[in-house]
Amino acid sequence: MNNKEQRDKLLSGVNTLAIVCNQWGDTGKGKFVDYFADWADIIARGTGGANAGHTIRIKDQEYIFHLVPSGILYDKIGKINIIGSGVAFDPNIIAEELEILKKEGLSFDNLLFSRNALLVLPQHLVMDRVKEINTEGKIGTTGRGIGPVYTDHYARIGLTVNDLLNMKNFKEKLKRNLSDKVKLLKLIDINIVKEIMNHPHIGSGRFFDEKEIFNIEEIEKAYREFAEIFKKNIADTESIIRNNIGKKKILLEGAQGNLLSIDIGTYPFVTSSDCSVTGLAKGCGLKETDIDLTLGIVKAPYMTRVGEGPFPTELGGLESAKWCGTKGVNKTLEKEKYSDATVNDANEFNQGIGVRFAGYEYGATTGRPRRTGWLDLPLLKYSTIFSGPHTILTKIDVMDKCEKIKICHAYEYTGENYQIGEKTLKKGDLIETAIPDKEVISACKPLYTEFDGWLSDITQTTSYDSLPQNLIKILDFIKSKTGIVIDIVSVGPDRDQTIINI
Ligand code: IMP
Repeated sequence: MNNKEQRDKLLSGVNTLAIVCNQWGDTGKGKFVDYFADWADIIARGTGGANAGHTIRIKDQEYIFHLVPSGILYDKIGKINIIGSGVAFDPNIIAEELEILKKEGLSFDNLLFSRNALLVLPQHLVMDRVKEINTEGKIGTTGRGIGPVYTDHYARIGLTVNDLLNMKNFKEKLKRNLSDKVKLLKLIDINIVKEIMNHPHIGSGRFFDEKEIFNIEEIEKAYREFAEIFKKNIADTESIIRNNIGKKKILLEGAQGNLLSIDIGTYPFVTSSDCSVTGLAKGCGLKETDIDLTLGIVKAPYMTRVGEGPFPTELGGLESAKWCGTKGVNKTLEKEKYSDATVNDANEFNQGIGVRFAGYEYGATTGRPRRTGWLDLPLLKYSTIFSGPHTILTKIDVMDKCEKIKICHAYEYTGENYQIGEKTLKKGDLIETAIPDKEVISACKPLYTEFDGWLSDITQTTSYDSLPQNLIKILDFIKSKTGIVIDIVSVGPDRDQTIINI
């Protein structure tokens, strides 16, 4: 059986497939959306927004796209790509990305935007950035307005993509949406707001007004122009997807990861949508039971996190967290300063940088270094409660040269007594399934099992059984501790570097 036949065997009987991430995002969903793209007739996103990012190669040029799904590149008669109702839809970013497609001579007629998707407006980006200036309570957001847009939705003052089709109502809704924000912004130094608004993603100063803070006319004009570009792409996508359940092959593409979900993640260091499979289904207009198979992606045997928040297995601990959160730290600077860092560095902080180099772990949206650490099984066990056991392991080859692999199999709780509902967590308690409260996670000492590395190049391996014995031992350990089923192992970035374990 060739790889495609194996893949199709894995998906036999599956009409609707969901791909989600079981960690803090950046686990390689893009590769797998691409891998399944030719199987699918409909590919839909249902959560997140321009905070996500994936690299798309068109001809010889690489582009980072945030909203346009990568499935757009797959020509298949009748194939549709959808941005669903749960997505924070930024017309400015979409217009930019559609312009690239146009420049490259690619059609976007097969790209549909849910009329119910949440409309990102300039004030959302401003509020997001203002809040992050205050270092107390900083989340380390991507600055794409995600928190404020979902907040407005729940506060019942949000706008949707459908409002772009009814510009008569747009201005009234816009004014209502702005009123509280203007009152708040007037309390801070106007120059700070002005500087924030002088950003290309916020109209490069076009929307700023010295007196009223926001120039409503300019916003309306810009959004009218955006609507002209893509109004024919706006549709009732929820009905389209629902009507095709069980008839067409549907791929639901998750964004971020369970641990960043507003509902089940490591709150408050999370994003503002529910990026679990439940949120994904809902954000596409479906029920979770419409999904035939959910594949949860897990980076192993290391993991990453971007932004603030506890990360028990982080290599270099707080020193790494601080360094990665420092403004201006990026790949070029790290390459200059730590050119010798490797995955075997005796110093853990440097080892973390070595892992980052080996795995190219820099944010697609922000360019920030991703914090790196060992695979954390208590968090994985927690995450699979929501995604189920079926798993894709990615980026294993990054650790091909690593001599000693550590896997966190449990935590020892080191904090004060902490009440979890009716139970009291006490110092010294063993935790095998993570408890996502920040008070608990930040007081968890990881307990490790150490393994010898496999020290060989696995990037050309094509079957599970021919993976090195030392790696199989590690995979068996992960399975036995978490109950996951390893359906797919990714051993490199290319499509054919994908092992189906059937
Ligand atoms: P926001 O989604 O921009 O509000 O950011 C909230 C948190 O989620 C921050 O810690 C971000 O770094 C993190 N985050 C958001 N999107 C992604 C992503 O695509 N990958 C990894 N982390 C993300």
